Amino acid sequence: MTSATSMRTGLCGEVGPGDVGSHVRLCGWVARRREHGEHLAFVDLRDRSGVVQCVVDGSVELRSEYVVAVSGVVRRRPAGMENPSLATGEVEIGDCMVEVLSVAEPPPFLVEDRADVDEVVRLRHRYVDLRRPRMQANLRLRAVAVSAIRRAMDRQGFCEVETPLLWSPTPEGAREFAVPSRLHRGDFYVLPQSPQIAKQLLMVGGFDRYYQIARCLRDEDLRADRQFEFTQLDMEASFVTRDDVLGFVSEAVLDAAEAVTGTRPREIDRMSWAEALDRYGTDKPDLRIETALVDLGAVFASTSVRAFAAPAVKGLRVPGGSQLSRSRLDSLVERAKALGARGLAWFRVGPREGSEGSEGSEEGFFLDSPLARVLSGPERDGLVRVTGARPGDLVLAVADEHRTACTVLGQLRVELAGKPVGEGPYRYAWVVEFPLFEAIGADGHPVPAHHPFTMPNPEDIDRMESDPLSVRSQAYDLVLNGWELGSGSVRIHRPDVQARVFKALGISDEEAEARFGFLMGAFRYGAPPHAGFAFGIDRLAAVLAGEESIREVIAFPKTQSGWDPLTGAPKALSASSLAELGVRVPAR
Ligand code: AMO
Repeated sequence: MTSATSMRTGLCGEVGPGDVGSHVRLCGWVARRREHGEHLAFVDLRDRSGVVQCVVDGSVELRSEYVVAVSGVVRRRPAGMENPSLATGEVEIGDCMVEVLSVAEPPPFLVEDRADVDEVVRLRHRYVDLRRPRMQANLRLRAVAVSAIRRAMDRQGFCEVETPLLWSPTPEGAREFAVPSRLHRGDFYVLPQSPQIAKQLLMVGGFDRYYQIARCLRDEDLRADRQFEFTQLDMEASFVTRDDVLGFVSEAVLDAAEAVTGTRPREIDRMSWAEALDRYGTDKPDLRIETALVDLGAVFASTSVRAFAAPAVKGLRVPGGSQLSRSRLDSLVERAKALGARGLAWFRVGPREGSEGSEGSEEGFFLDSPLARVLSGPERDGLVRVTGARPGDLVLAVADEHRTACTVLGQLRVELAGKPVGEGPYRYAWVVEFPLFEAIGADGHPVPAHHPFTMPNPEDIDRMESDPLSVRSQAYDLVLNGWELGSGSVRIHRPDVQARVFKALGISDEEAEARFGFLMGAFRYGAPPHAGFAFGIDRLAAVLAGEESIREVIAFPKTQSGWDPLTGAPKALSASSLAELGVRVPAR
C-alpha cells in the first residue's frame, strides 16, 4: 500500500536514507521553524507519520500549524547535524518550494506530548490535541485492535449485524438515555445500554453466531473507565456451552493484543468467582501483583486474642513492607476501617536479632507489632509460615466476616502495589461461576449479579428460593490488569426457568410482560440454547495503550462531568423544538 496521493508523494515520517536524491512532495503542518539569517529557514513538517526537516531558501511567511505542501529533494544531513532522536534524523529535504495550503492562528497549546495541558482545554480544541503523537498512536492502536477483532470473529464464522439505537428499555441495571418521539408525542425511545435483548432475538431468528462492534449508551457517573458512550465487541452464539464462548472471545482478545503489541499473550488463566474473592478479595483480580490473600483461620482457630475471634481471618504478605513508617501503618488501619473492616492487624517481620519489644520464635524471625506479645508462639509461627513472610516483609491480617476480610485486604493489596492499570505486563483472567444474585435488596428480593436472563447453575437451581445467595450462575467476566474488560453468560432459554428467576427477583408476571414481553414472546416460537459476551473496546485499547483513562483512546470523549467542551453539549433546545417533541422543561 502506498501513502502517495495526487497531492503528495508520501509521508513525512517515512523519508529515509534510501530516498536520498529523490524528488518528494510532502504535505502537513508546520511543527516548528527556525530562522538562519534572513534567507534560510529550517521547517519541521509534521503529518500523521512523524516529522521531517525541510530546508527552505528564500523568505516565506510561515507560522506554527500552517498547512503547507513542500516540494524538494531528499539529501543527507551534513555530518554532525544528524538528529538521532528523530526517525528521519539522518536526512532532510533540500531546495524546498513551499506552498501554503491553509494559514492557522497560533495553537491554544503546543502540539507535543510533553506539553502538560488541562483536559478541558485539550477537549475544547480536540482537533489540535489529536495531532499530538500520543493521540495519533492511541487512535491508530484502537483501530488495529478493532480490525483484528473483526477478523477473528469473521474467521470463526460470526456474522456482523447492526441493531437499533432507538430502542426500548433493557433490564441491565444502568440508567438509560431517553429520546422523545416527535411522531408519538409523550413517548420515548431509549438508547440501548447494550444490544443484549436484540442479540437474543437474533438467536431466535437463527443467526447462530452474531457479533457487532456496538455503540452502547449509559447515563452513569463517569470515571476513568466509564463514558456515557462506549463501544463493545458484542457477541452471541447458539448451540454452544460456556467454554465455547470463552474460546471465541479469547481468540478475539488475544488476536487484538497480538496485533497491537506484537506478542501473543499466553492462554488466559481461569478461576472461579469464589476463588477470586478468596485469593484476591475482588472479582477483578490484578494478577500482575504477585501476592495473594491466605487463610489464617486454622492458625487462629482456638485463639484467645479477641481481635482474631471472627468467622474468617485472612492474611496478606506485603513484600518489603516492614519499611513502612508507623504513621503509614496507622493510616492503613484507618483505610481498612473506612473500607468496612472492624480493624487491621499489622506485623513487621524482621530477622531474629531484632529490636526491643519484639517477639521471636525458633524460626529466626521476630514480629514487630502491638499484637506480637499477645499471640501464642504457634500463632506467631503460623502467621509467618502460612503467609510465607520473610524478614523485611509486612503481614496484614483482617478478622471479620469472610467477604469483608477478603475485600478489605484485597483492596489494600492493590493500593499497596500501586500499579497503574495501563502499566504492563498484561495479565488477563477469566472469572467464572459468578453468583446468580449479588445481595438481598431493600425489598427483600435478591438483586441479580448480571442480568435476569442469566442461566443458574443446574446443580444449584433447587436452592433458588431457600438460599438464593448460594446459587451460582453461568456468568463469567474477563479481567485485564484489575479492570473488568467484559462479561457474559449462558442465557435462560426455557420459560419455566425464566419464570422461576423472575419470581425470585420479585418481578410479577405482569411486570415481566410489560418490560420484556417481546423477548419472552419470541422465546415461545423456538428459542435455541444460547450464550454470549461483550467486552469494552475502549478499556482494552486504553490498557494496551498504557493509558489509565478510556478518554485517551476516544476521539471525542466527554469530561468527567459529562460535558463536551468542544460542542458545548448538552445544550438547551429552542422552545419550538421542545414544543414539537412535546417536552416541557421546568424553569431553571
Ligand atoms: P456489561 O454491562 O458488563 O455487560 O458490559 C460489558 C463491558 O462493557 C464495558 N462497559 C463500559 N465501558 C465504558 N464505559 C461504560 N460506561 C461502560 N459500561 C460497560 C465494560 C464492560 O465489562 N449485555 C452484557 C454482556 C452480555 O451479557 O453479553 C453487558 O453489556 O468493559
